[in-house]
Amino acid sequence: MKKTITLALTGASGLPYGLRLLDCLLAAGCRVHLLCTQAAHIVARQELNETWPVRAEALAELFRVRFKVQDAEQLQVWGMQEWFAPMASGSNPGDGMVVCPCTMGSMASIAAGLSENLLERAADVMIKEGKKLILVPRETPFSAIHLENMLKLSRAGVVILPPNPGFYHQPQTIADLVDFVVARILDQLGVPHQLMARWGESNSQHASTFPNE
Ligand SMILES: Cc1cc2nc3c(=O)[nH]c(=O)nc-3n(C[C@H](O)[C@H](O)[C@H](O)COP(=O)(O)O)c2cc1C
Repeated sequence: MKKTITLALTGASGLPYGLRLLDCLLAAGCRVHLLCTQAAHIVARQELNETWPVRAEALAELFRVRFKVQDAEQLQVWGMQEWFAPMASGSNPGDGMVVCPCTMGSMASIAAGLSENLLERAADVMIKEGKKLILVPRETPFSAIHLENMLKLSRAGVVILPPNPGFYHQPQTIADLVDFVVARILDQLGVPHQLMARWGESNSQHASTFPNE
């Protein structure tokens, strides 16, 4: 197996980003430790019309079937108080962690170093161990409190990657917009993908914006 990544889904709007990221990480052969907050379950019902099982192992099985995962070790789901999970300790943090989508609440808790649940603890471990931690914060507009938390986290080495898709690749579908953001996350993790053509590559669109060019 390749990289080991912790992926946390929180109760912000934007679960399609998180699920597409999960799909891509698994397809790339990564081992994924998945965390899901209680609020993420509520948002899944609201924006995906999906009711996710509360029990971690049942949720793991649902996603293993959906994403065609053969090896149960490749995708594990952990409860929010499972302190014996590997990423709860600096001795076994894996290669990185993504919180996608990330609520303002979880971001604030991480910025404050609270470590009151496994998500917050794993993020705290990533920061203290100098591992890659990527937050995908979803809110609009951002308040001064949100921005201060982002600046604090950025100064601690955390990547703040808001789900702001560009439009220069001429997206046709919502899936295209989702893939734009997921591609940027995978790039940050160093996980190979072919979600979209890279800027300046021969198969990327080139339409001059300069009439005299
Ligand atoms: C449908 C729905 C959408 C929400 N969207 C957001 C959002 O985009 N950003 C945010 O910070 N909170 C959002 N919330 C509120 C959070 O879910 C709430 O603050 C929750 O306590 C966050 O908990 P968590 O960080 O443990 O997931 C939303 C709630 C619901 C029900």
